[in-house]
Amino acid sequence: MTRLRLLVLGAGAGGGVPQWNCRCRVCTLAWANDGRVRHRTQSSIAVSLNGEEWLLVNAAPEVLAQIKTNPQLHPRHQDGGTGRHSPISSVLLTNGDIDHVAGLLSLRESQPFDLYATEEIHSILRANRVFDVLAEGVVERRALGLDTPFQPLAGLEVRVFPVPGKTALYMETPDLEIGAIGQATVGVEFLSEAGSIYYIPGCAGMNDALAQRLTGAAAVLFDGTLWQDDEMITAGVGRKTGHRMGHLSISGPDGSMAAFEALDVGRKIFVHINNTNPVLIEDSQERRAVEAAGWEVAYDGMEVRL
Ligand code: MLT
Ligand code: MN
Ligand code: ZN
Repeated sequence: MTRLRLLVLGAGAGGGVPQWNCRCRVCTLAWANDGRVRHRTQSSIAVSLNGEEWLLVNAAPEVLAQIKTNPQLHPRHQDGGTGRHSPISSVLLTNGDIDHVAGLLSLRESQPFDLYATEEIHSILRANRVFDVLAEGVVERRALGLDTPFQPLAGLEVRVFPVPGKTALYMETPDLEIGAIGQATVGVEFLSEAGSIYYIPGCAGMNDALAQRLTGAAAVLFDGTLWQDDEMITAGVGRKTGHRMGHLSISGPDGSMAAFEALDVGRKIFVHINNTNPVLIEDSQERRAVEAAGWEVAYDGMEVRL
């Protein structure tokens, strides 16, 4: 087994940092290009074993800019037949939210790749005909079983598994279930030489099964959307709690910091971080608190090698 390279393409949550219409405390610093707040694009990572072929996990609206700023993802030559090339040979989706699927629309131009997702997420794409630009015969749509290993890249063993979540924002119905376990929201496990690496950009809560699964992991990249549940409300930019959005907050007795304390995880990294989250301010009290608890705060371009 070779070592795994994981590249954070976008560490922001839906909307990125700064968000286009936001003047919260964090965004105000970001708009001013204050050195304490890095700009972050929306949620996506890329994974490779050999640095030549990459699996994209989630396709953010900024995928084209993310490809441009990461030379590993530039086309390298002209393939016989199509005259085109991309190091991205597979794409995997963890849910159907806009920040994770809108970038698919930019991956047209007759580029063959495999598109992996659960049947439920595939059905959302099929119901939105705009995704038919990923033409049949070019893009191979592969339905994933939960907890069933597959190899999106030669030698790379991957599994998706259910985590407490919710249906995509634009698919919500009045009987919406928050924290539902099923095919709508999944986490990803990569098996590497160093052990298991997990990517869980959306998670509504910790339960025994998830805690058990993550115990002893080499690294976990975990949902860092909000610092505290009512943060969007107190920042004056929204009416929803983190819980209502399907995200477990970082702080507090029921937060992710507390939930991970006993799990013996090698590297703990927050991803999918909302623009209102004060951990994005490098000298903030909240940033110091997560770092003191052994967490890293992901940024665009961060590379993790394990
Ligand atoms: C989320 O993670 O809650 C979604 O990305 C929200 C959104 O679509 O803006
Ligand atoms: Mn999101
Ligand atoms: Zn903001």
